[in-house]
Amino acid sequence: MPATECALFSPFKIRDTIFPNRIVLAPMMQCKAVDGNMTDWHFVHYGKFALGGFGTVLTEAVAVEPRGRISYGCPGLWSDDQVPMMRRIVDFVHSQGSLAAIQLGHSGRKGSSHRPWEASYGPLRQADALPGEEPWPLVGPVAVPIDEGYPTPHALTTAELHDIVRKFGEAARRADEAGFDMIEIHGAHGYLIASFLTPLVNERTDEYGGDRAGRMRLALEVVREIRANWPAGKALFFRVSAEDGGGPGGWSVEDSVVLAKELHKAGVDVVDCSSGGLRTSAVLQNTARGLGFQVPYADQLRHEASMATMAVGLILDGPQAEAILREDRADFIAIGRQAMYDPFWAHHAAQQLQSDPDFSNWNESAGWWLHKRIGTLKLAGCKPDGTEASD
Ligand SMILES: Cc1cc2nc3c(=O)[nH]c(=O)nc-3n(C[C@H](O)[C@H](O)[C@H](O)COP(=O)(O)O)c2cc1C
Repeated sequence: MPATECALFSPFKIRDTIFPNRIVLAPMMQCKAVDGNMTDWHFVHYGKFALGGFGTVLTEAVAVEPRGRISYGCPGLWSDDQVPMMRRIVDFVHSQGSLAAIQLGHSGRKGSSHRPWEASYGPLRQADALPGEEPWPLVGPVAVPIDEGYPTPHALTTAELHDIVRKFGEAARRADEAGFDMIEIHGAHGYLIASFLTPLVNERTDEYGGDRAGRMRLALEVVREIRANWPAGKALFFRVSAEDGGGPGGWSVEDSVVLAKELHKAGVDVVDCSSGGLRTSAVLQNTARGLGFQVPYADQLRHEASMATMAVGLILDGPQAEAILREDRADFIAIGRQAMYDPFWAHHAAQQLQSDPDFSNWNESAGWWLHKRIGTLKLAGCKPDGTEASD
């Protein structure tokens, strides 16, 4: 299929920003930061997806204050000192023709955790202080832990909430200084913003709780504060858990439709439709999940809230992603674990969709050779991707 006819490789304009294709690296926590700083490891990690053809390279959750990290391995953007390393990463991503995006978040009740491979996100204990990872006090809408055996958070006061909102704005200003093209607000998976949305957790009686409008207040204040500190020409995404996964009476898809409409009015351009994660980590739940299991959320919000959406969750190959876009179920496709498996996912999707027959999407240092190899492979009975030709 010629690139011009391929939905996955068609550009998308938001405000003054042109997304070169619809493929976004899903935010994925790496736990490789040192004292809240990204390192060379992040430079190589994010750089490889730009080389792999991802139109937008979106970072993992980046905390707006130190206690808003999930683990000690999470990066932050609470200080100007954190900008130069990110600028280096952004510059490389740009040099490959991709956009650079950053997810800003606050862990809330789910902070002070181990790295996933250490204790499956379990809470840090006093014993962890000795190797230098002392548990830190958590914050949330109410003084109720995420689960049995987890620390009890402090219920944030109004003044403390205003301070956190302000920090989102400061981080947005720094993200602009670092050169990022898009911010995604992390409003999903039970972290601070999500924990305010759901009635299963937020039993506050002040203006940040109560009815749905009260529970949405924090999310909307964060959006407005970011918009006030982020260029009008740059895009703003918001990741929501379309359903909170906390059981009956929780945050529903209908609530998400109402939220999406309000987010849109406040300056959000795209809703990234995830789900679950209210209590324990979304990524560790092994409930039945089919291919593209969250696409119905992106579909419903796109049509009922009349705004652009991003689909994520077990989207594995080019034809699957292309079908989601062609069926008007989403505007962007986020690729998570499949990108870990194949950092060149976007280039390979283009091969599957036959939209880049001459390898012109690739960096010339590889693309020139791969193009030259096509004839040799043909003589050897193979297709341009190196697999055996069937006829
Ligand atoms: C290692 C790992 C880290 C993740 N970290 C984040 C994160 O920082 N922010 C976020 O919103 N989602 C995070 N997620 C969820 C992914 O963005 C994505 O929604 C999920 O993995 C489903 O998509 P997939 O099937 O393509 O992997 C993480 C997932 C994984 C596997």
